[in-house]
Amino acid sequence: MELDLDFVRAQFPAFSAEETRDWAFFENAGGSYVPATVSDRLARFFVDHKVQPYGAFALSKQAGEEMDESYAAIASLINAAEDEITIGPSTTLNFYILAQSLRHLFRAGDEIVVTNQDHEANIGCWRRLSEHGIVIREWCVGKADGELDLNDLEELISDKTRIVCCTLCSNLVGTHNDMAAIAEMAHRVGALVVADGVSYAPHVIPDMKSLGVDFYAYSTYKTFGTHQGVLWGSRKSLKKTEGQGHFFNEEKSRYRLNPTGPQHAQIAALAGITEYFDDLHKHHFGQSDLGLHERARQTFELVGDHEAKLANLLLDYLKDREDIRILGQDHATPGGRASTIAFHARAMPSKHIAEQLADSKIGVGAGDFYALRCVEALGMDPADGVVRVSMVHYNSVEEVTKLVETIDSILPGN
Ligand SMILES: Cc1ncc(COP(=O)(O)O)c(C=O)c1O
Repeated sequence: MELDLDFVRAQFPAFSAEETRDWAFFENAGGSYVPATVSDRLARFFVDHKVQPYGAFALSKQAGEEMDESYAAIASLINAAEDEITIGPSTTLNFYILAQSLRHLFRAGDEIVVTNQDHEANIGCWRRLSEHGIVIREWCVGKADGELDLNDLEELISDKTRIVCCTLCSNLVGTHNDMAAIAEMAHRVGALVVADGVSYAPHVIPDMKSLGVDFYAYSTYKTFGTHQGVLWGSRKSLKKTEGQGHFFNEEKSRYRLNPTGPQHAQIAALAGITEYFDDLHKHHFGQSDLGLHERARQTFELVGDHEAKLANLLLDYLKDREDIRILGQDHATPGGRASTIAFHARAMPSKHIAEQLADSKIGVGAGDFYALRCVEALGMDPADGVVRVSMVHYNSVEEVTKLVETIDSILPGN
């Protein structure tokens, strides 16, 4: 069975709105479009009951119920318990707070492994702990392909290692890292594993019960929702954290690692994501006895196949050009390489390519995307960065064909 793209696109107002309908949008790793189920819920919250939730009056109760619905939906989606998740303003902030909350565990000389493949969100907050005598060990990407080699991690890990921080999928290189193997190595020496799922979650529905990590974070504004970040920790790992909110909120899972407090309307809208996934499931598979998590996973098998097809359409063109360097693998497989494709063209600065594509109503990104260390490790000029084409399941073959033809017309002949 194939993903019914007409049905998919009909759920997203952006594909029919006058301002956006003519655009081929490929900057999804920067933030995706939202289905009507999300924008409707957000509008409903603001218009119908934008009041302090959990109060005595009906409007307030309704506001609280909608937030509760979202906490339950997001937890179910990733097969987690509600008290294992924190929904905070962003992944960067969630990681920062997590790092502070674990600081008390470490002594001078303890080691934390970070990569130079990650987005800075899962690097900088850990590196800051060196101010307290913690030693940072860097797991470096291969200079040619930008990939992380497990043998290098084996060399870095020792009985001094306390945490291994690594992305599930780089926002530039696109390869899915073997998190089970990483976690196995880290756990062998008693270290915790902090996984960044921001570039992974738009493509895969992870299962917190089997992912094998201790902490996992992703951003809902890149997964068809509002601008929030979800942080999951296993109960055992959460017990190791120190609360970072007000002292009287110490035992409240929604506040402990979220000193800001929940952002009401943004959270209330998140149930629109799972509502959309369920609509997709019902359309493709009919009524089902499966739970929400299993339904989403089944739907995402179709998503994975579709995204791999799109990615290979672009990769097949790019890899035939001698003047283009692709970051990471030049072939996509579901679960192997995401449809996030970064490249550098010898003949033209990345920003110029993005600008010229924009003239044809094609939206791509250009720059370092806060994976500055990765760009530098690959010997590229950070001022120029890369062009990034990030596709998700609502992109179409027609859009990718237009992209390929337009790149071909912009760049000088091969
Ligand atoms: C791989 C990756 N990790 C982390 C982040 C940070 O997420 P947020 O913007 O929610 O802080 C991003 C944002 O682009 C990202 O791409």
